[in-house]
Amino acid sequence: MNNTVIITGASAGIGKTLAYEFARHNYDLLLVARSEDKLKKLCTELNKSYGITAKFLPLDLLADNAAEKVLGFVKGSGIDVSYLINNARNG
Ligand SMILES: NC(=O)c1ccc[n+]([C@@H]2O[C@H](COP(=O)([O-])OP(=O)(O)OC[C@H]3O[C@@H](n4cnc5c(N)ncnc54)[C@H](OP(=O)(O)O)[C@@H]3O)[C@@H](O)[C@H]2O)c1
Repeated sequence: MNNTVIITGASAGIGKTLAYEFARHNYDLLLVARSEDKLKKLCTELNKSYGITAKFLPLDLLADNAAEKVLGFVKGSGIDVSYLINNARNG
């Protein structure tokens, strides 16, 4: 995945809106939040509507090893990160 934007808190609210905006501008996406069902549905819709590659990582970012899990996913998927939008609401 080239030109990829990581958006945390992408299952709802501002993060979800930003996912649509970046998809519209042809960025690939890695979407992170806890709600796997919402992320899966959103990725399917974005991939279909905008012809981009959107992946998701269901994760509680308050967990001890959350950052390592994101890094591991990025490295394992060969994702080329352009931007990180660290938007998830804490609480
Ligand atoms: N809305 C405003 O007026 C406003 C004003 C100033 C600042 N902000 C900031 O803007 C950001 C987004 O706000 P919003 O109103 O769009 O929030 P929101 O609608 O409540 O959405 C929060 C997002 O964060 C995710 N999230 C929450 N806790 C998480 C966790 N522990 N691990 C992973 N993901 C988590 C939620 O997904 P899951 O529940 O699926 O995990 C959801 O996707 C926040 O940082 C907020 O503080 C918002």
